[in-house]
Amino acid sequence: MNLLPAPVAAVLYLAAAALFILALKGLSAPRTARRGNLLGALGALVAVVTVLLSTDFHGANLWVVLGAIAVGSAVAVPAARRVQMTQMPQLVAIFNGVGGGAAALVGVIELAEWSGADAGLVATTATAFAILIGSVSLSGSLLTFAKLQGMVTSRPVVVSGAGPIMVVTMALGLAGAVAVAATGEVLLGVALMLLGIILGLLLVLPVGGADVPIVISLLNAFTGLSVAASGWAMGNTLLLVAGTLVGAAGSMLTLAMARGMGRSVAGVLFGSLGGGSTAGSTEASERSVRRVQAEDVAITLAYADRVVVVPGYGLAVAQAQHTVAELVTALRERGVEAVYGIHPVAGRMPGHMNVLLAEANVPYELLVEADDVNATMPSTDVVVVVGANDVVNPAARTDPSAPIYGMPIINADQAAQTVFLKRSMRPGFAGIENELLFAARTQVLFGDAKASLTDVVTALKQV
Ligand code: TAP
Repeated sequence: MNLLPAPVAAVLYLAAAALFILALKGLSAPRTARRGNLLGALGALVAVVTVLLSTDFHGANLWVVLGAIAVGSAVAVPAARRVQMTQMPQLVAIFNGVGGGAAALVGVIELAEWSGADAGLVATTATAFAILIGSVSLSGSLLTFAKLQGMVTSRPVVVSGAGPIMVVTMALGLAGAVAVAATGEVLLGVALMLLGIILGLLLVLPVGGADVPIVISLLNAFTGLSVAASGWAMGNTLLLVAGTLVGAAGSMLTLAMARGMGRSVAGVLFGSLGGGSTAGSTEASERSVRRVQAEDVAITLAYADRVVVVPGYGLAVAQAQHTVAELVTALRERGVEAVYGIHPVAGRMPGHMNVLLAEANVPYELLVEADDVNATMPSTDVVVVVGANDVVNPAARTDPSAPIYGMPIINADQAAQTVFLKRSMRPGFAGIENELLFAARTQVLFGDAKASLTDVVTALKQV
């Protein structure tokens, strides 16, 4: 429409970039996360409106763009509104894949637009990078979505000869990228995109179990970098800045998650090619445990001095955040020093427990991070493990063959007593038995976490 002069558009791009940076700052703490999210959305709105008002669309193209925005919004808005908190990683994966695919397509279109004209080696190199990495992110993210959604197996899939196939495809991808950078040939660009799609599938197929979220975050970083590269190729500063921010934030989150799970990023991507598997069993254990009733749990808690509640994925499944908050409040009102022990990868997405407990208006001061809560474990009377398993499994410290070996855990085994609230003897995400369930000082209250917690709160009132 070309309604905005270039200098005004440049200032608005700068404002959008500043909003993205403020958004990231806000998202770094639970208290300011909501505001950060809104600032990010505002930045995206400013960016889209600026593009619409400052670009000459040559007639009908404007309607194509508006039509694409309408279709995208009609699909994305209901999907984002309806998604359950436990399905958030899938949603992030699919949205991220679409972003990577868009960056790759922009690269191919740029090649077509230049068609033979010398765009310069820097621009064609950036374009080749955007096509290759963007299409890896597209297919890798879609496969991750399918794994998490249960559409394909979430276990690692290692075909015979996977290692050499991967090495050859990577070499071809690299050669293709060099050819596109050198020639700017559009057909080579399309071939590079196909290679990227195959490479994305090969990268994600052998990843399974608890490693999937690390890969989502890594692919997120890939999408950011490919968007930044297409911004470089097109001379669009905003794409460059926004892509770099996503690339940097995604890389840092990948490293933080890998550290939280005791993994190396290379081990996640290539470990299972060597034959190792990252997924365990989903079979229920047949060993017996000490069962307990809600009334007994209430008495134990009422007479404790210090209680740590460790929430996990099951809290989200049971939607028991309000009931657990009720229990902790009731205990604190009785003078028990009750807090929450928050593990960085409890649940199924970064910050999952913080988000859940914020919904129940739990004060942030009561959320104690793993290191700090571990320091107080030897003086803790009772740990109540609500729908958590892997994050308190001592195998992470003691069993080098366990898939979670090396992951820092909450040392519930060092407290005087542990009470597990779970429905069955099925294992957690990593699919391995938890010896703590069978320890002499452990009791298990079977049932859905919400029903069990309600019973404990009711019984506590009688004590
Ligand atoms: P898990 O180890 O998955 O254990 C969840 C426990 O909740 C299970 O013991 C399950 O047992 C129980 N449960 C499920 N629904 C329940 C319900 N309605 N009521 C009561 N209990 C219920 O969870 P965690 O300890 O939070 O560990 C997280 C795991 O997920 C780690 O392995 C982590 O690496 C992985 N992971 C993390 C993320 C991020 S970024 N947070 C993302 C993906 C994967 P029953 O079935 O017997 O009830």
